[in-house]
Amino acid sequence: MAQLPAESAILLAAARMQPRNSDVEYPFRQNSDFYYLTGFDEPDAILLLLPGNEEGEYVLFCQDKDPLMEIWHGYRAGPDGCVRDYEADGAWPIERIDEQIVGLLDGRQRLYYLMGQDAEVDSQIQSWLNVLRQGGRSGLESPTALMQLEPILHEMRLFKSAQELTVMREAGELSAQAHAEAMRVCQPGMYEYQLEATITHKFAMAGHRQCAYPSIVGGGDNACVLHYTENNQPLKDGDLVLIDAGVEQDYYAADITRTFPVNGRFSPEQKAIYELVLKAQQACIDACKPGVPLNRIHDLSVEVLTEGLLELGILRGELQDLIEVGACRDFYMHRIGHWLGMDVHDVGNTRKNSDWRPLEPGMVMTIEPGLYIAPDCRKVEERWRGIGVRIEDNVLITPEGYEVLTASAPTTVADIEALMAEG
Ligand code: GLY
Ligand code: MN
Ligand code: MN
Repeated sequence: MAQLPAESAILLAAARMQPRNSDVEYPFRQNSDFYYLTGFDEPDAILLLLPGNEEGEYVLFCQDKDPLMEIWHGYRAGPDGCVRDYEADGAWPIERIDEQIVGLLDGRQRLYYLMGQDAEVDSQIQSWLNVLRQGGRSGLESPTALMQLEPILHEMRLFKSAQELTVMREAGELSAQAHAEAMRVCQPGMYEYQLEATITHKFAMAGHRQCAYPSIVGGGDNACVLHYTENNQPLKDGDLVLIDAGVEQDYYAADITRTFPVNGRFSPEQKAIYELVLKAQQACIDACKPGVPLNRIHDLSVEVLTEGLLELGILRGELQDLIEVGACRDFYMHRIGHWLGMDVHDVGNTRKNSDWRPLEPGMVMTIEPGLYIAPDCRKVEERWRGIGVRIEDNVLITPEGYEVLTASAPTTVADIEALMAEG
């Protein structure tokens, strides 16, 4: 509210339940922006922020109390609960929004909302504005400017507070321990989904039911499918397995990938590719500090991977030419990472004034180089085919440099082999 000009209003809608089939709905997860501003985790709610409003700056519309609905679907805070437990200045049942909102928006010059994110909300806002405009003769004053809320809100979410970082450190540590546990229990013949269950069991036993995104557990060739989530194949002796999984803890994501040999020992080819990806990852993490532009980190990963692929004979030619033409894209087809926070691919611009933005303290990002040599890739010797490796950690930018939030999942070949031998 402090960032808005006088006489502004913010409107933000909660997530809605999504039907799956007949009486079944998808698990509810609150919209991150809504949760960030309210901490309120029920569907069908609308937040209004009215800076300077003497009758209350923070107003919630929510599902009303309803004994029958609460028998079927569970507790609702209701308007009284919104005031009592969520510190709203005022709250009404969502059914009454049409009659209330016109008076609340009357006289507000600018209305900030997430334009274009939800067609139903967009059209509701249009209809409220029509009522206000049509009421002009009877003295109602409609907002004259509709403003995009996204830049203000998402810039706030990009910079994590001390409290947010406490949660993200815990999410990172728990997820790292879950990856270590998967290394300990992995055996040839296990199914990918059984290894997935090791991870989610670890999260649940630590008090967290949700993952931040569907876990990827890909053995052998499946590691080369970037968003593989079938996770239904047996893990084979001699293959690598790639696990990309992270907990969602109190609405904050961890996002870790580790790749390790199913039988506990890397083959020479697996080790060569693995150690190259690790070298790129370590170089990129070490380069993280305030002032470094985001694309510099990505470019560094391309340089290290290209040089290594040339040394292994997987690429042929002149190093500088290969870097310039992006020759490694056949094997490294994504970028170095993304912002991390309440969403796994978190909000926040990656460019500022058309340039890649520099890193700043309080940002959290992933560093996740990978190499994926397709099983049918004719450009490389057969011994390399079907090897897929990604190594992903979560990195907080600090005033001095960086802090890795996910460091306790082993990354070196020696550490992984030692841990798996224990298992
Ligand atoms: N887990 C999704 C990603 O690594 O971006
Ligand atoms: Mn990931
Ligand atoms: Mn990621």
